Amino acid sequence: MGRLKDKRSMELVNLATLVGFCLHCFFLLLLMKPASAQNGFVSLQCCAPSNSTDFSTNISWNSDVNLFNNIGKCQEISSPMINDANYRWARIFSPGPGNKWCYNLTTIKDQDYLIRGTFPSGLGFSPCIDTFFNISFGTTSIGQVKSSDNSSVVQGIFRATNHYIDFCLVVEKGSPYISELELRPLGNFLYPELNLSNVLKVVSQVDVGNTKGVVRYPYDPSDRIWATSSSLSNSSITISNTSISVNGANASVPVQVLQTALMGKAQLQFIQNDLDLSNKNYYIFLYFLELNGSVTKGERVFDIYVNGQKRYENFDVLGDGTISNYREAVFNASTENGILNVTLIGVQHQLGPICNAYEILQVYTRSEGTIQQDVDVIMEVKDELIANNPEKEFLLSWSGDPCLPFPWQGLGCQPRNSSAVITSLDLSSSDLQGSLPPRITELANLKALNLSFNYFTGTIPSFPNSSMLTSMDVRNNELIGSIPESFSSLPYLTKLYFGCNLQLSNALPSGLLNHPNLTSDLGICVEGGSSLSVQQIIIFGVTGGCLLFAVAAGIIFMYNKRRLMGRGRLDRGKSLKTK
Ligand SMILES: *[C@@H]1O[C@H](CO)[C@@H](O)[C@H](O)[C@H]1NC(C)=O
Ligand SMILES: *[C@@H]1O[C@H](CO)[C@@H](O)[C@H](O)[C@H]1NC(C)=O
Ligand SMILES: *[C@@H]1O[C@H](CO)[C@@H](O)[C@H](O)[C@H]1NC(C)=O
Ligand SMILES: *[C@@H]1O[C@H](CO)[C@@H](O)[C@H](O)[C@H]1NC(C)=O
Ligand SMILES: *[C@@H]1O[C@H](CO)[C@@H](O)[C@H](O)[C@H]1NC(C)=O
Ligand SMILES: *[C@@H]1O[C@H](CO)[C@@H](O)[C@H](O)[C@H]1NC(C)=O
Ligand SMILES: *[C@@H]1O[C@H](CO)[C@@H](O)[C@H](O)[C@H]1NC(C)=O
Ligand SMILES: *[C@@H]1O[C@H](CO)[C@@H](O)[C@H](O)[C@H]1NC(C)=O
Ligand SMILES: *[C@@H]1O[C@H](CO)[C@@H](O)[C@H](O)[C@H]1NC(C)=O
Ligand SMILES: *[C@@H]1O[C@H](CO)[C@@H](O)[C@H](O)[C@H]1NC(C)=O
Ligand SMILES: *[C@@H]1O[C@H](CO)[C@@H](O)[C@H](O)[C@H]1NC(C)=O
Ligand SMILES: *[C@@H]1O[C@H](CO)[C@@H](O)[C@H](O)[C@H]1NC(C)=O
Repeated sequence: MGRLKDKRSMELVNLATLVGFCLHCFFLLLLMKPASAQNGFVSLQCCAPSNSTDFSTNISWNSDVNLFNNIGKCQEISSPMINDANYRWARIFSPGPGNKWCYNLTTIKDQDYLIRGTFPSGLGFSPCIDTFFNISFGTTSIGQVKSSDNSSVVQGIFRATNHYIDFCLVVEKGSPYISELELRPLGNFLYPELNLSNVLKVVSQVDVGNTKGVVRYPYDPSDRIWATSSSLSNSSITISNTSISVNGANASVPVQVLQTALMGKAQLQFIQNDLDLSNKNYYIFLYFLELNGSVTKGERVFDIYVNGQKRYENFDVLGDGTISNYREAVFNASTENGILNVTLIGVQHQLGPICNAYEILQVYTRSEGTIQQDVDVIMEVKDELIANNPEKEFLLSWSGDPCLPFPWQGLGCQPRNSSAVITSLDLSSSDLQGSLPPRITELANLKALNLSFNYFTGTIPSFPNSSMLTSMDVRNNELIGSIPESFSSLPYLTKLYFGCNLQLSNALPSGLLNHPNLTSDLGICVEGGSSLSVQQIIIFGVTGGCLLFAVAAGIIFMYNKRRLMGRGRLDRGKSLKTK
């Protein structure tokens, strides 16, 4: 007997551990504040056993383990990662009740940022060979990661519209994963093309002529990672001048990046041939610093072509009209075939064209999220619910935008112009306790509210007259008080179910008694709830409805009383009469 009991309790423990583990897989709730020494930097190593400093850059990395509380699972990876070959961990999120996993990073409104996610190759640890997921900033999707890819980096540049940015992994198939996440404030006007209606995805940032090793922080205060350029051809040579500095201009690029260049004999050509076919708009930034101290204005002149089109004639690094050895050029471009071809062709052929660095950024139109007012309210509702129900997995999966690209579990949304609004909230049968979050009433577009079959306590809040509420179901809770009088003024209310709250008065506010088209259970508790339609009472308008109503109400009262007595619960339900 004793053994049997032991065995059973062991099974229970195992089950609890298992459930706990699975819940952990689902949870994601993050609040991250920049904590590293670098001003405003957020540098997270997912699943790292400890915080650390990278002495080649002095960047302080924080582990997300404390912050995450073991959300998802940690896995050691075998293949080295791009950017950080020494880092060997990844956090893997399970496909859970949510379908997106978002890191909430603190930002300063109107500040520009670079954000960079690093993803190991999924081969070797991804349980599903064709796992793939989208990366989005807020609701703007800017790239996709596939488990069949090599280690990859997704980087984007955005202007903060709020005090936080969600960096989201949006599940398409399988379990998304991530190794590192970095947020870097950018100097003002580093990218004048950036505004509140776009997001720029980094396609390439190339330190032309550098074959040695990447330049990043601390040389680049914005910690852009300038890739080395390996494409050397016979028609160009690498040149460098480590004693050169930028005169008479503010360069957007660190001088260490500018100190190397390629010089063509007659022309220089850069081909990017792996571009999207669907999203075709790009910015090309070219950076020039004259490295030869003897060259004078007019000696090195070239034309700049983008995809065969001459975009700048007689470009002269020294010929900007100022006394400077530095110059930048920016071109917008689009491509139909996924190729961008930037060619610099020398005009006089004495000194061939040079280029010191270039960037290609892809332009994404920022997609709007749910309207801010609904976001603000639902965030508070979420916080109120979580405070009373800290273990609820689906509440913890409520991350990122409430409606887009998919609504949170339990939410229903509708498009509103280019944005979205929350129109329904269904938390029925979710084992929830605590009071009804009072701010629910501030969801201005909420039509359907279903909180039935929970353990909610307290009173039913009043909705404003402007509410769009058409139906409310709060059956089978532990609510007290009565339906507020203000419900009489809800212009669209057609369904009101509130039975099986033993301490809730089943009297309707007088104003609702002659409400046309109102369907209500009149607070009657029906076993199982689902058979309710049989007992549903349609309250007619005043004309002709009064008698019927009186009869119906009589029947209902008798039924209600009998049922309660029959179940021996009249004592607990006595407040029914005191109201
Ligand atoms: C890592 O740093 C963060 C922020 O500075 C701190 O809260 C956390 O306790 C540190 N974790 C470890 C394992 O030292
Ligand atoms: C990192 O910091 C140390 C101490 O402040 C300094 O000596 C070293 O030069 C720094 N390294 C880099 C790459 O800046
Ligand atoms: C993921 O990205 C692809 C291509 O960018 C897009 O077609 C798809 O709609 C995105 N999926 C979601 C769920 O956002
Ligand atoms: C992965 O990297 C290898 C070697 O660097 C390369 O040959 C291969 O094409 C890459 N695969 C993908 C999918 O990019
Ligand atoms: C933002 O920049 C884009 C070009 O990238 C431009 O077309 C758009 O009009 C700008 N929007 C605003 C609001 O300035
Ligand atoms: C580059 O030079 C090598 C030897 O100097 C030669 O074999 C090759 O054909 C040249 N390539 C081109 C594209 O000119
Ligand atoms: C490198 O730059 C310095 C400073 O401008 C200049 O004096 C020197 O001539 C340059 N070296 C070459 C090889 O051009
Ligand atoms: C520097 O420019 C002068 C002409 O101003 C040229 O004669 C010389 O060869 C150049 N040096 C290099 C290393 O390109
Ligand atoms: C790139 O453009 C140049 C100038 O328009 C052209 O001569 C060259 O053939 C192009 N290269 C490719 C690979 O398309
Ligand atoms: C560059 O932008 C201008 C103005 O927005 C537009 O008219 C032009 O078509 C764009 N050029 C390319 C090549 O996309
Ligand atoms: C992100 O965190 C901030 C507090 O830093 C909070 O106000 C905001 O609601 C959170 N956003 C999401 C989508 O969780
Ligand atoms: C949204 O669209 C409606 C019409 O459907 C319009 O009346 C309203 O002004 C629009 N709101 C915004 C913010 O564009």
